[in-house]
Amino acid sequence: MLKGKKIVLGITGSIAAYKSCLIIRQLIKKGAEVQVVITPAGKEFITPITLSALTSKPVISEFFSQRDGTWHSHVDLGLWADAMLIAPATASTIGKMANGIADNMLITIYLSMKAPVFVAPAMDLDMYAHPSTQQNLKTLQSYGNHIIEPGTGFLASKLEGKGRMEEPENIVAALERFFAQQESLKGKKVLITAGPTYEKIDPVRFIGNYSSGKMGFALAEECAARGAEVALVCGPVSATMQAKHPNIQRIDVESAREMYEECLRLYPSMDSAILCAAVADFTPCDVASQKIKRTGDEMILHLKPNPDIAASLGQLKKESQTLVGFALETNDEETNAQSKLKKKNFDFIVLNSLRDAGAGFQTETNKITIITADDKTEFPLKSKPEVAVDIINQMEAVMR
Ligand code: CTP
Repeated sequence: MLKGKKIVLGITGSIAAYKSCLIIRQLIKKGAEVQVVITPAGKEFITPITLSALTSKPVISEFFSQRDGTWHSHVDLGLWADAMLIAPATASTIGKMANGIADNMLITIYLSMKAPVFVAPAMDLDMYAHPSTQQNLKTLQSYGNHIIEPGTGFLASKLEGKGRMEEPENIVAALERFFAQQESLKGKKVLITAGPTYEKIDPVRFIGNYSSGKMGFALAEECAARGAEVALVCGPVSATMQAKHPNIQRIDVESAREMYEECLRLYPSMDSAILCAAVADFTPCDVASQKIKRTGDEMILHLKPNPDIAASLGQLKKESQTLVGFALETNDEETNAQSKLKKKNFDFIVLNSLRDAGAGFQTETNKITIITADDKTEFPLKSKPEVAVDIINQMEAVMR
């Protein structure tokens, strides 16, 4: 998993800096390429000569190379790396990272980093437990950094380990797990529908719903992060919704009919589809070509049923393909979800109940139950990206 991976290893001023040598040795043994960046304080604990001998690369520490004034490009390193690992990370470095204080080379590289960042804190227990350190760690997590919690390794007991850096083999294992997960859908193609659909009434009005598309976008990011190629067919979501991963191809549609046509076109070449969109069940029989005027009378809108995308894909589904559906219910949740599972030929269905606080439309969180033909698993309230991890884990478990 680490073979050929390019790792920027940041070393800061902690007594645990000597353990960086063990991290380097293990990374290199597993086929990774390591570029060390060390802070001035880090150099008080371990010499660059040892580190460059282990990595077969000059160690980066200063903005300028001392002898010839060559400028080290933090931007280039940010693009070169597959991951950045800061181990040991002192309270001071964690604080600077959380607040963007770029007063050394390591922090500038961190701020330019395009790859995922892993942080292994190392400090004494009081410093670790201090609210400012805890707050900074939370901030780093909210930026998407991965904190490798100290004391979870088998060598350090939970109590005495807190604050102490995680053992090198566990740090390396955390990176391996990350890359393993990243590639688990490599070569697979996944179709995802997201957001609402708008059904035109006249040039200025439509029938829509409150779906934000957040759950569908989170699913697309998770699949892409695991190496899949994703076709994200999305209804009219807000302009702030943007697919970030380059493996996501976004296809914008407006109505259920347009979504249906794109899905029918795409599904035959897909390994899996996740139907997360809130598709309008009905659409106006006629779309007025001009704005409908107020007449003072009652207004009757005639609606006809839209195609059921899920049921159509369920019929098309081949032995090798997977189909995942959603059900947003207000009552008789499980019975309704079970009947949709069968009717639409889903491999499993993700149920959210509008009765659960924090679940459903327009929220940042979701609370789901995954229902298969013979099993059900309830999950606690989580952020939508975390819910996406649970759903994609289940999808991988049933994929053929
Ligand atoms: N779905 C779809 N196309 C439709 C309607 C729904 O693909 N025209 C998908 C949704 O994306 C979801 C699943 O089918 O994955 C269930 O959607 P839901 O609206 O709950 O199901 P309906 O069959 O429309 O049932 P209901 O009577 O509860 O609206």
